[in-house]
Amino acid sequence: MTSILSLSSLLLALKLCTGEWCYKSQFSCNDTCKEPDHWHKIFPKCGGQSQSPINIVTRKVQHNSNLTGFIFEGHEDCVNITVENHGHSAHFTLPPSVRLRGGGLPTTYKAVQFHLHWGEEQEAGSEHSVDGERYPMELHIVHIKEQYSSLQEAESDTTGVALLAFFFEVTLKPNKHFDRVIEALGRVRYHGNTSAISGFRLADILLPASRLSYYRYSGSMTTPGCDQIVVWTVFHQTLPISQKQLALVTEQLLFRTEKPMTGIFRPMQNLNGRIVFKSVKSDSVCVLPGLISLFLCLFCALGQQRCFG
Ligand SMILES: *[C@@H]1O[C@H](CO)[C@@H](O)[C@H](O)[C@H]1NC(C)=O
Ligand SMILES: *[C@@H]1O[C@H](CO)[C@@H](O)[C@H](O)[C@H]1NC(C)=O
Ligand SMILES: [Zn+2]
Repeated sequence: MTSILSLSSLLLALKLCTGEWCYKSQFSCNDTCKEPDHWHKIFPKCGGQSQSPINIVTRKVQHNSNLTGFIFEGHEDCVNITVENHGHSAHFTLPPSVRLRGGGLPTTYKAVQFHLHWGEEQEAGSEHSVDGERYPMELHIVHIKEQYSSLQEAESDTTGVALLAFFFEVTLKPNKHFDRVIEALGRVRYHGNTSAISGFRLADILLPASRLSYYRYSGSMTTPGCDQIVVWTVFHQTLPISQKQLALVTEQLLFRTEKPMTGIFRPMQNLNGRIVFKSVKSDSVCVLPGLISLFLCLFCALGQQRCFG
């Protein structure tokens, strides 16, 4: 009996000492949680050389012709999904019938879940940034290689996970397709709450694959354990959301500690010599098909010459 007691008190002491991981916004004097700069103390991989997110410096990005278009499967299907408040964010489960191939990926990947990263109050909350500029919110769609049955199984494979990232940009008009996601978030205010969305179509909140161009680099999960197993795709094209919708997203959820769930993004990580590739040669306007694009490209080129030449 005493040994069981002392073991459990030892475990309790360990838990109090190490704390849990948290975002900077959660940190307070009476919380022992580890904020991002200290994640590596409990999760050594978070101190690795290929971590995410990163700042994408467009001047240094290299074109790679292997980065072809994506093929989305199951994005048009109406599926029943669930959302759960995990204490640090809310995950929307996706069925394995939602799949991804092409896009310079080594094989077919199947979807696991999607979630959002957002800021505090009116502050930008994307994880990645482009030329030092952050966006208000970022959507992550997590996929694992088809042959794996869980994220854990993908952990020993440097390309085990394919993560798609979309930035949001504030528009005057609300994005009505996003209302169901926002309503669902409102139903999972507390850690551990779950809720169902029936008849959900991923295609409703994304853009068609044919319209997408993107950045590609090798990185990690942006939450502990920070495994360096991710083929990252960060899209140029942004998704629209109104200021009011954005405020609703960021105001509805609570952390495990019942503080408002805001500022849920990891700070920028060093590139450490990694190269970021892009799927198109020049400005995204030049990927439009056909004659129009030829004219637009000529126009771009002339315009650029005139502006910068
Ligand atoms: C989705 O849920 C609805 C009820 O909410 C049910 O009628 C329907 O059969 C479900 N569809 C699938 C594919 O499970
Ligand atoms: C959400 O979680 C809270 C706190 O655990 C609980 O009291 C409440 O009943 C849950 N609500 C739903 C709808 O599950
Ligand atoms: Zn994420």
